[in-house]
Amino acid sequence: MAQHRIAVIRGDGIGPEVIEEALKALAAAEQRFGLSLAYAEFPWGSDYYFKHGRMMDADALDELAGFDTILFGAVGHPDIQDHVTLNGLLLPMRRGFDQYVCHRPSVLYAGVESPLRGKEAGDIDMVVVRENTEGEYANVGGFQYAGFPDEVALQTAVFTRRGIERVVRYAFELARARNGKKRVASITKSNAQGYGMVLWDRVFDEVAAGYPDIETESLLVDAACMNFIRRPESFDVVVASNLFGDILTDIAAIVTGSMGLAASGNINPERRFPSTFEPVHGSAPDIVGRGIANPCAAAFSAAMMMRHLGETEAADAIDTAVRSVLRDGAALTPDLGGKATTTQVGDAIAAGVGG
Ligand code: NAD
Ligand code: IPM
Ligand code: MN
Repeated sequence: MAQHRIAVIRGDGIGPEVIEEALKALAAAEQRFGLSLAYAEFPWGSDYYFKHGRMMDADALDELAGFDTILFGAVGHPDIQDHVTLNGLLLPMRRGFDQYVCHRPSVLYAGVESPLRGKEAGDIDMVVVRENTEGEYANVGGFQYAGFPDEVALQTAVFTRRGIERVVRYAFELARARNGKKRVASITKSNAQGYGMVLWDRVFDEVAAGYPDIETESLLVDAACMNFIRRPESFDVVVASNLFGDILTDIAAIVTGSMGLAASGNINPERRFPSTFEPVHGSAPDIVGRGIANPCAAAFSAAMMMRHLGETEAADAIDTAVRSVLRDGAALTPDLGGKATTTQVGDAIAAGVGG
């Protein structure tokens, strides 16, 4: 039996609360399917920063490199500037492990109400494939005349042919493999951003030519935001730059019911480095410590992680268990209109995984 080595970074805010429940689901799957999951916990995040002046160890990526996958909660603390927390932990991991695909499914599940009128379960079923290592998030820029009245800040987006090509190809392969509408939508803003996004459009068209079986559309990001709300059922696979993918996946999460349902994988498809699985949501300081965070996104992320590890039965069992908790409706957190606690939902999921 293969052993899977999993690094766990619970992080800040509701991160530890939801990861606890994801780990329960994994433990139930481990027992039911006779798996061997070896965990190592890393206490990184804002508390670590308050003690050590950094979000994670200086050689953190070396420490993590030997793991098969990483399960991550969230980081972000009201008393630390977000660019410090996020550039101190999550973003270096995405870049350093070349996790160039951010794979973010959004499904309207049975038992969950969309804020959009007239949407039934299954009507919305899409995956946003977000470029995850470059674009607007390339850590390139600087300050000039810092602190002076004429201070200047430069923030440079970096788009490379290689970077675009590989993520677009992933999107097309996914559309082919999915039992969906066989459609890929590409999102840019090439009417205003005349270099990087123009390259993106060109590379998208070149890659698309190799997939005549897949229907395509190219949308400007403002229109895409509108259409995620106006006609979300028309999307199958969506491929977008780093920043646009970030924004679109919050919209996709909320039109399918809650931030607390949206799962995500930061993936290095070649498996040269570990991939990181995490909910789309953040540390949610507004609800931390109240025991009401929805753990479903973390559990769905754990299911994605098991699928990545080749443990299809375990992945399916976790996925099915979360879906049936949602369908059943007896244990739902307040974001979904229920009264259950994080722990009660996690226990219901784990019981379902146990079979
Ligand atoms: P957020 O996702 O933390 O919260 C947005 C809203 O959704 C809040 O009202 C919150 O209560 C609700 N929400 C989020 N997750 C929920 C859950 N599981 N169950 C129920 N409700 C949930 O976004 P934000 O408020 O913009 O950011 C808070 C902090 O998190 C910031 O510091 C931000 O930088 C950070 N952040 C981190 C990550 C990450 O680590 N991956 C992602 C997003 C934001
Ligand atoms: C996400 C988050 C991060 C991002 C932030 C916290 C840097 O919003 O994972 O969606 O923008 O990628
Ligand atoms: Mn985001």
